[in-house]
Amino acid sequence: MNKNLESIKADRPNIITSEIEAISFYRKMDTKATVIDLIAGKYVLVEEYFSNGLQVLAELKRNLELKYTDKSFQGKRDCRSAFREASHRLLIKVKDNKLTVKKAPTIGWLELLYPDVSEFYISFPEIQGMNSSWQWYEKGVEVKTLDLFLHPFYGTYFPTRFDHLKLFDKWLKKYEGAKTNAIDIGVGSGVLSFQLIQNDFENIFATDTNKNAIIGVDKESKRLNYEDKISLNHGDLFESCNIKADIIVFNPPWIKAKHKLEEGIDKAMYYEEELFPRFFEEAKKYLNPEGKIVLIFSNLAQIDDEKSIHPIIEELQKNNRYRKDLHLRRDVRASSRRTKRTDSRDNEKVELWVLSAK
Ligand SMILES: C[S@@+](CC[C@H](N)C(=O)[O-])C[C@H]1O[C@@H](n2cnc3c(N)ncnc32)[C@H](O)[C@@H]1O
Repeated sequence: MNKNLESIKADRPNIITSEIEAISFYRKMDTKATVIDLIAGKYVLVEEYFSNGLQVLAELKRNLELKYTDKSFQGKRDCRSAFREASHRLLIKVKDNKLTVKKAPTIGWLELLYPDVSEFYISFPEIQGMNSSWQWYEKGVEVKTLDLFLHPFYGTYFPTRFDHLKLFDKWLKKYEGAKTNAIDIGVGSGVLSFQLIQNDFENIFATDTNKNAIIGVDKESKRLNYEDKISLNHGDLFESCNIKADIIVFNPPWIKAKHKLEEGIDKAMYYEEELFPRFFEEAKKYLNPEGKIVLIFSNLAQIDDEKSIHPIIEELQKNNRYRKDLHLRRDVRASSRRTKRTDSRDNEKVELWVLSAK
């Protein structure tokens, strides 16, 4: 039973609905001069062919790479941020919820996310993001541990590697405790909740700060007939939770943020300092006496910086709240068998932690 979900509106890219002063870009025009205008702060409108937009972006990249000669970490970051800033002034027109130029991809999100407006301008990079997301949504992501395809909603984190799901599956198959209630914090595309359901858990309370994740999992639970087993809530951690659980599962973001987090997918990757202390503080209130906290994590941050603090180890060492029952690790395989990794990700491991309250 999913309450009040109708009132949640999906996060979607900003659009321009008024007329706007922009330079029209056609194939035969001078791309270099157009890019100079774009960098100077003018809007450019992609006309005629979709590929004209790609041509402008390629020239913008070339221009900025020549300008930003400092190849240090900071230099590259400045270059990327200049690209982001200027590229968002490259616009494309949408009419009847479709792109108006020739040889453009069909992007269903233009209809699904903008039912209230059919004609507008949108930035070309946003369209590229929507296009890629739409292809994943249409094609689906095969999740072998679930024996099904998931169709991730726009702006939602979904797995592209599956080692953590295999680890969770291995643990679930051996789990012999109660299966009445489970809480899934940060439900994302729904994978962990669906694993719990397939392993006979009766009620799942699932939450996420990302509205699109909640909308997407609502659709997926209906499609998969899991609707009666899952109750969804858009909110922070245990907000609005009114059950005590046998299992609380959380696959949190794995990297500590050095920047101010934006809503949406950013919070799937990066965490703020206070996320773990808040989680551990609150989780105790929602755990049955025999209940277990299952955390999925990775050594990704440690590979990058040996001194980085592991938030779960820190909790166990500093506070006297939880006991470690189990810690499993598994090598992460490259996303494609053909990709041979030679970088530091060779050492990457996913971790599954099981804790109980003291
Ligand atoms: C790494 S993703 C995991 C998604 C999914 N559970 C999976 O295993 O594929 C982390 C998720 O946690 C959500 N999240 C981050 N901070 C949160 C918070 N304070 N409360 C609830 N969800 C949060 C993110 O939006 C994201 O969907």
